[in-house]
Amino acid sequence: MRLARTIGPRQGSRIAWNGGGMTAYLLALESTCDETAAAVIDADRRVLSSVIATQTDLHAKFQGVVPEIAARAHLERALPVVDEALRNAGIQKRDLAAVAVANGPGLAGSLLVGVSVAKGLAVGLGVPLIGVDHLHAHIYACRMAAGRDVFPCVGLVVSGGHTHLYRCNDPLNFVPLGGTIDDAAGEAFDKVASMLGLPFPGGPALSKLAEQGNPRAFRFPRSFLHEERLDFSFSGVKTAVRYQIAGPGHVDFTQLEIPEQRKADLAASFEAAVIDCLVAKSVQATQSSRLGRLCVGGGVAANRKLRANLTETCAVRGIDLVVAPPDWCTDNAAMGAVAIERWKHGRYDDLDLDVLAGLSRPDVRQRA
Ligand code: KG4
Ligand code: ZN
Repeated sequence: MRLARTIGPRQGSRIAWNGGGMTAYLLALESTCDETAAAVIDADRRVLSSVIATQTDLHAKFQGVVPEIAARAHLERALPVVDEALRNAGIQKRDLAAVAVANGPGLAGSLLVGVSVAKGLAVGLGVPLIGVDHLHAHIYACRMAAGRDVFPCVGLVVSGGHTHLYRCNDPLNFVPLGGTIDDAAGEAFDKVASMLGLPFPGGPALSKLAEQGNPRAFRFPRSFLHEERLDFSFSGVKTAVRYQIAGPGHVDFTQLEIPEQRKADLAASFEAAVIDCLVAKSVQATQSSRLGRLCVGGGVAANRKLRANLTETCAVRGIDLVVAPPDWCTDNAAMGAVAIERWKHGRYDDLDLDVLAGLSRPDVRQRA
């Protein structure tokens, strides 16, 4: 059932795509998980401002994102973050030509806040509303960073919620090639970090500790490494670390005393196992699809060793590797610039734009 009218550009106004020689500004919103973010981007993909309000402190004591807390925090922060993004860009609401929002995948409650704010702004200002896919956006961060067209390419989205390989035919058309059958890589980083007593979010802390450790101290499993399938599994390596730390049975990890060097060795060996799988499968996907280009996005792509390993391996194999700078790998709204790819073709959304918490959207289809 159609609930609402399409929000289109005002008649004859300055707000059509790059129309009339006037600068057109897009406001992009991001609230899929635990970052409330807004960015102002112009039609030439210049990022005029990018503001991120992180909720790390709210979730730290739970060692993971608590959906209800995240949604409430988005509610408090969304409008101040928008105001700050506009202020930093030196423009006002009335200068906006379109409003974009990530409407999935993510936490339903968190998504609802961003989508509701975007709808309110679009209706109030009479400008187009454009829903974007958070995974498209993570790969589009590579296009933004490279400053050139990067499509078609193989895209690896590796974050707290996703570890998936896609054939990215264009910025809005991703065909799944494979993905994790259990935990996302970032989730495994966070869980192992928690077992080692490191602060949330675990990825950056674990990777820092790993610098002091020996990546060959423990031989953790590398799932599917020598198989053709382009899938990942990180629950096995997570369990293997747990057994090394504490063996089977119930354990209170907060009471465990692990010697510092052993901790660092566990971190380094875990990190090496995860990176080996991510690099091998990405290279395999790029070679088997004969695309010759690999774009990597998502929070785990901020990992220094992963970036170094990818750079080295892709150079040897002649693969054009594009990874966004670390700040654009973790959740942000500047990557919502992918909305430009719809904006310029007048592909807007209606007011009944829904949140899509899972992966099932027509342009990110499940594998046949
Ligand atoms: O893309 P993102 O900001 O949010 C999601 O869409 O999930 O990714 C967050 C994830 C967390 O699991 C975090 O621990 C991980 O990315 N992460 C890292 C690093 N920085 C962030 N993992 C490993 N090494 C890092 N340097
Ligand atoms: Zn993300």
